[in-house]
Amino acid sequence: MTSRRKASLLIGSLFGVLLICMTALAALTGLLRPLYDPRGGLDSIASIGGPVRLTAHTGERVDTAAIGKPFAIFFGFTHCPDVCPTTLAEMTQTLSELGPAAKDFRIYFVSVDPERDTPAVMASYMGSFDKRMIGLTGTPAEIDAAVKAYRVFARKVPTKDGDYTMDHTATTYLVDGKGRLVGTLAYEEDAKVRLEKVRRLIAAG
Ligand code: NI
Repeated sequence: MTSRRKASLLIGSLFGVLLICMTALAALTGLLRPLYDPRGGLDSIASIGGPVRLTAHTGERVDTAAIGKPFAIFFGFTHCPDVCPTTLAEMTQTLSELGPAAKDFRIYFVSVDPERDTPAVMASYMGSFDKRMIGLTGTPAEIDAAVKAYRVFARKVPTKDGDYTMDHTATTYLVDGKGRLVGTLAYEEDAKVRLEKVRRLIAAG
């Protein structure tokens, strides 16, 4: 093989390697782009959430699209034996730890059981918790829209005594001032982690 032929082979293979690298980089960028939203957060969670329009336990109408401040939202029902009272009690603790920093922060508790959870029932239930926690209820269609927006699971389960209970998602959703879902709290999330997540949510605005 002549040295000129060797050189041209070398250049050819280097060019080939370069082409493969560029293709791989382009493919990787293309793959990553749909996952990463430069405005903050992941596209996969950016599609969860959206305006929730319901009636507060105080009787006022609430439209989460008009809040303009960070808030937390979770779904449940007043007859819930464990998940909902635990979450409400834990959030009460977080709010008291945050103190004045969370004075404008709201936690919305959306009923997935509008049949029993009228605004009056919600008002009496929410009376046991921090004032910054707002019970929301509405017509089955309004509740359904909220449940769909947050892709929440909620299902009526008959009990032996002829009554019923509700199976439901136990996640708390953290929404920023622009109405975007930016994080979640797991059920019984560690108190320090919960406090830090909510503190950061409020600070980011
Ligand atoms: Ni519950």
